[in-house]
Amino acid sequence: MTVALVTGGSRGIGAATAVALAADGWDVGIGYRTRGDEADRVVEAVKQQGRRAIAVAADLTVQEDIERLFNTVTTGLGPLSAVINNAGVVSPAGRVDEYDAERLDNVFRINAISAFLVAGAAVRRMSTKHGHHGGVIVNVSSRAAVLGSAGEYVDYAASKAAVDALTIGLANEVAKEGVRVLGVRPGLIETEIHEPGRLDRLGTTPPLGRPGKPEEVAELIAFLASSRSSYMTGTTVDVSGGR
Ligand SMILES: NC(=O)c1ccc[n+]([C@@H]2O[C@H](COP(=O)([O-])OP(=O)(O)OC[C@H]3O[C@@H](n4cnc5c(N)ncnc54)[C@H](OP(=O)(O)O)[C@@H]3O)[C@@H](O)[C@H]2O)c1
Repeated sequence: MTVALVTGGSRGIGAATAVALAADGWDVGIGYRTRGDEADRVVEAVKQQGRRAIAVAADLTVQEDIERLFNTVTTGLGPLSAVINNAGVVSPAGRVDEYDAERLDNVFRINAISAFLVAGAAVRRMSTKHGHHGGVIVNVSSRAAVLGSAGEYVDYAASKAAVDALTIGLANEVAKEGVRVLGVRPGLIETEIHEPGRLDRLGTTPPLGRPGKPEEVAELIAFLASSRSSYMTGTTVDVSGGR
């Protein structure tokens, strides 16, 4: 059996990834924070592909919730072979000289600290060092990590740069333990993460002339999670329409 866990799987890129993984033959555990109805719809979409799925409410800013999420998915579906470290948030648009500590705590807490904790929990459940059979971690970063997001959310960009460093460093730590660690850097993708009007304003700016669809990121994540990417680790791939 192949079992994958997708954090932030109720909506957007995570929801599309759960469905793409199911089409590839994975059973899928779906983590979400509050939007249970949407998570249930993703569970149904996975089941329509003939695979098993469960949805688990867990706030990834709470370490105990991360452990409970992993334990519930492995108890319900079986040992994990892939973890998609996808949940994330942006802050309201603003300049660095306007940020306060509360804002920074929030964005770094979910995008960087929780991403580290999820990756660590994944290693404990997949690494041969911990008695398991190996697997793949896919970290969802952002092109913002490279572009910097001036005037919008440099803090978000920096939190995603931390994710890119996590991908490189952790990949080297666990390469000989059967675990590959990869990343994706989406550009502008049509999801609810954007403030109203942002996609209308920026959507045609990528060289390909349009925003991306969550399914176009999900295809890449499903490829990276599979054995089709067997000689890849420690690298992050852009999926950004050239942006
Ligand atoms: N969309 C883009 O243009 C874009 C570009 C680059 C990178 N990304 C990255 O791609 C990832 C997914 O983004 P998206 O656009 O699909 O976002 P989205 O549509 O806003 O969905 C965010 C997901 O994360 C979950 N989540 C948020 N905070 C959480 C928490 N504290 N604990 C547990 N789950 C939490 C949400 O759960 P609920 O539904 O329960 O709230 C939801 O499932 C993020 O890491 C984002 O930074 C997105």
